[in-house]
Amino acid sequence: MENIKSYVQQHKDRFINELIELLKIPSVSADAAYSQDVINTSEAVKISLEKAGCDFVEICDTPGYPIVYGEKIIDPSLPTVLVYGHYDVQPADPMELWTSPPFEPVIKKTDIHPEGAIFARGACDDKGQMYMHVKALEYMVQSNTLPCNVKFMIEGEEEVGSKSLSWFVERNQEKLKNDVILISDTGMISNQQPSITTGLRGLSYVEVEVTGPNRDLHSGLYGGAVANPINVLAKMIASLHDEDNHITIPGFYDNVQELSLEERAEMAKAPFNLENYKKALDLNDVYGEKGYVTNERNSIRPTLDVNGIWGGYTGEGAKTVIASKAFAKISMRLVPNQDWEQITELFTKHFMSIAPAGVTVKVKPHHGGQGYVTPIDSIGYKAANMAYTETFGVPAIPVRSGGSIPIVALFEKELKSKTILMGFGLDSDAIHSPNEHFGIFNYLKGIETIPLFYKYFVELSK
Ligand code: BES
Ligand code: MN
Ligand code: MN
Repeated sequence: MENIKSYVQQHKDRFINELIELLKIPSVSADAAYSQDVINTSEAVKISLEKAGCDFVEICDTPGYPIVYGEKIIDPSLPTVLVYGHYDVQPADPMELWTSPPFEPVIKKTDIHPEGAIFARGACDDKGQMYMHVKALEYMVQSNTLPCNVKFMIEGEEEVGSKSLSWFVERNQEKLKNDVILISDTGMISNQQPSITTGLRGLSYVEVEVTGPNRDLHSGLYGGAVANPINVLAKMIASLHDEDNHITIPGFYDNVQELSLEERAEMAKAPFNLENYKKALDLNDVYGEKGYVTNERNSIRPTLDVNGIWGGYTGEGAKTVIASKAFAKISMRLVPNQDWEQITELFTKHFMSIAPAGVTVKVKPHHGGQGYVTPIDSIGYKAANMAYTETFGVPAIPVRSGGSIPIVALFEKELKSKTILMGFGLDSDAIHSPNEHFGIFNYLKGIETIPLFYKYFVELSK
């Protein structure tokens, strides 16, 4: 496929401009203020799939945001690749930390991306990575090299738990029938060293509320005599880890899949430089569970983190007050064999049990999903590795990621097929953070690599 390289070179400005247009629409699924923008983005994705050469595209209504479904079936006897991606994005705040507005994409050079990167919310997660697949399809259709059938399923609620997608998948098993699921919504080690994500962590996300007195009180008149919900919440949260940074919830580790020393030694071979890691984050040291190194702590080990905490007075100056309520949002990242619903129950039971007299506690489960691991001896994995080897000049390394795409485990359960995670982002691309970006190199390399996956997948399937 020498032609894909020249096709990309010839059309790269248009590829970049089309992505920029998509990035201008603020499709923030978490915030109802943007609901029309989310819907408009689904329309834009639909049009892009039609233009790229799908024979049939539809916007499927769901109880939540729509799912864009598209397909090009060239021969029912050939294999079918199902591409999944998401067109929704994370909220952009804190706005003031962006060096350019999140929905006014610009190309800037960085140390890691000397050829430039597109800065915008969603550039990497996941509009840029999803759109690589649309452009790869365009190439295969234009050059008459599409070797099999393809289906697209692009959703608008990934960043808020994919509720409607579960609903959709359960109702459309026949329509979504496929031989392999292909997703670009993860990362790789570096632009010199590609990797294939072989594992994702599960997730349990909860919100807690601690209530003390029935109204905010004068902290002089009442301070010391009643439970302060913020003090209590801080103490309860602190108690969820012990001195070794193990999680203290009884039963939390019961089903955790422990890796053998051989597997851990294998993981340790992936290139990683702790000094650079610390430097990139301006840290004087790393932190985490005793007995595990950084790359294990963020992938094969479960975690518990407060994502947000609030209550009381946070405005300018001082206000002497004991708040009536305090709140926190807590995520637990889970590893294979931990069941997210069971973990949510264990958390709830434990958190209620450690509440001291003088407060009442509520736990509200948000969403969650199971973790995922995929074998490296499947046809899909081999095809992906052959594709990377060809475009990067070196084979890809299998890596278990710390992130979550909860829907992947559901795909396996409902559609009975394996998912291949061909990610082209870098950890430094700042997904979910201010100044998210996606390297032009990565974007174009993705468009180049994807058609090769199709080619090798079909060859190996014969
Ligand atoms: N694309 C990410 C997940 C990801 C990123 C996995 C990088 C591996 C490497 C996805 O959009 C995401 O942010 N998922 C959420 C979970 C979701 C239920 C909100 C996450 O991991 O926090
Ligand atoms: Mn994503
Ligand atoms: Mn995300």
